[in-house]
Amino acid sequence: MLEPIIVDDFVLRQVPPTNEYAQIIYDIFTEDAEIFKFWMNGGVRDSVDDVLAYYKKRAQNDDIRWRHAMYGIFQNDELLGEIGLSGIDLQNKTGEIGYWLKKSARGHGIIDKLLPTVENLGFEKLGLRKINIWCDEDNIASRCHAEKNGYVLEGIQRERKLWPDGSVHSTAMFGKLKSEYKK
Ligand SMILES: CC(C)(COP(=O)(O)OP(=O)(O)OC[C@H]1O[C@@H](n2cnc3c(N)ncnc32)[C@H](O)[C@@H]1OP(=O)(O)O)[C@@H](O)C(=O)NCCC(=O)NCCS
Repeated sequence: MLEPIIVDDFVLRQVPPTNEYAQIIYDIFTEDAEIFKFWMNGGVRDSVDDVLAYYKKRAQNDDIRWRHAMYGIFQNDELLGEIGLSGIDLQNKTGEIGYWLKKSARGHGIIDKLLPTVENLGFEKLGLRKINIWCDEDNIASRCHAEKNGYVLEGIQRERKLWPDGSVHSTAMFGKLKSEYKK
């Protein structure tokens, strides 16, 4: 179980794997299907049951010694999105920052505010050597966060992703070393 983290008026805590939250997340994704289409219609989140199954599975594996430390972003008890580390590899001491926000929460600097907390978790608490941010080459908003926060573009992995709609996407691979991290 992840311990909640408070950052100003945001609470980062695990999304409860319940029907209620599965429905909330499903609604967020379907209301904004264009931006979330790479996660939907792929058998992961195309129904409330899929969402519930995903979060249940993740909750069983949320021990940060395993792979995920993903937090729901709550403000006044409302779920706005998620941020955290996935793909945590404690042998190589690496992990990947991921995030998403519901439409109405975008453009308010929320990820900018929370990113340092996740970096601190990775570099200081988990002892990672390197944190990656991998995003679609054309995901400008996500790339902005990587670039603004000092992540180095290490390459573009060509045609890495085949989306459920049949389109093919390259991945921009950004990384930050512990030695490049400023507390
Ligand atoms: C990625 C995401 C969380 C970013 O939301 P946000 O933190 O509120 O980011 P913003 O919308 O403020 O955009 C961040 C920056 O990119 C810029 N930007 C966004 N879209 C842009 C575009 N099409 N062209 C140019 N700049 C753009 C914004 O102006 C902003 O710049 P600023 O910080 O200098 O003001 C949100 O877009 C999202 O949830 N996307 C879907 C999930 C996703 O893609 N997650 C990342 C997977 S790697």
